Amino acid sequence: MEFKRVVVLTGAGISAESGIRTFRDQNGLWEDHPIEDVATPEGFHRNPNLVYQFYNLRRAQLLDSNVKPNAAHQVLAEFETEHIARGGHFTLITQNVDNLHQRAGNQRIIPMHGQLQSALCSVSGLSTPWTSDLTAEHYCQCCATPSPLRPDIVWFGEVPYQLDDCFDAVAQADLFVSIGTSGKVYPAAGFMQVAQEAGAETVELNLEKTSNAFDQGYYGPATEVVVDFFSRLM
Ligand code: APR
Repeated sequence: MEFKRVVVLTGAGISAESGIRTFRDQNGLWEDHPIEDVATPEGFHRNPNLVYQFYNLRRAQLLDSNVKPNAAHQVLAEFETEHIARGGHFTLITQNVDNLHQRAGNQRIIPMHGQLQSALCSVSGLSTPWTSDLTAEHYCQCCATPSPLRPDIVWFGEVPYQLDDCFDAVAQADLFVSIGTSGKVYPAAGFMQVAQEAGAETVELNLEKTSNAFDQGYYGPATEVVVDFFSRLM
């Protein structure tokens, strides 16, 4: 079957083989850090320095020469180029805050949970590219009275970026592929059902099965199953 409108949702699992820790696996980030301390507005308010430091470490990791897009990121970039050239539509919704899809060359990306390499003005909501450490001493240049900058990460209790665009793309998809996400965090976890109800074929590519609801599932490391699946589609 030829699919015209393809939507891919990615989670931490696609970057695991690039050396970036997932959240909920064994040795996941949330094993060492209480979510409410480092991934909520309340945690930031309580102890901003802890939160700055947590994201500074993750941002610095992106500058490590060993951390680079893997074969799964690369095949998605190749697929996008080829699919668009054939007249198809493609949207890559990522929950990841690393920059590996961007570096692999995907163009139509919605980083719905924000980006590590960006700082957010807590007053105007303006995002600014940011690759170095961020601290409470950094202020924005967008407000008349400069305001403190915070990590540009969508925390629990906050609304993801471009949510309308996500739902529009998902509701129009004829193929929806979920890659390397545990499906535990909404609203992203609800995209599969929206796509399925709209008539899309739904596929899970993951190290392990997270749900019985997908029409198809292929299980193994992303560098194998994602490459196999998209190579067959091209
Ligand atoms: N290849 C494929 N899948 C993998 C691999 C791999 N090499 N390694 C791990 N996985 C899968 C795991 O089986 C799991 O289903 O990746 C998934 C990782 O799940 P989570 O750690 O929960 O990450 P994610 O789903 O992206 O989390 C969603 O939660 O904490 C928040 O905002 C954070 O964006 C994040 C959101």
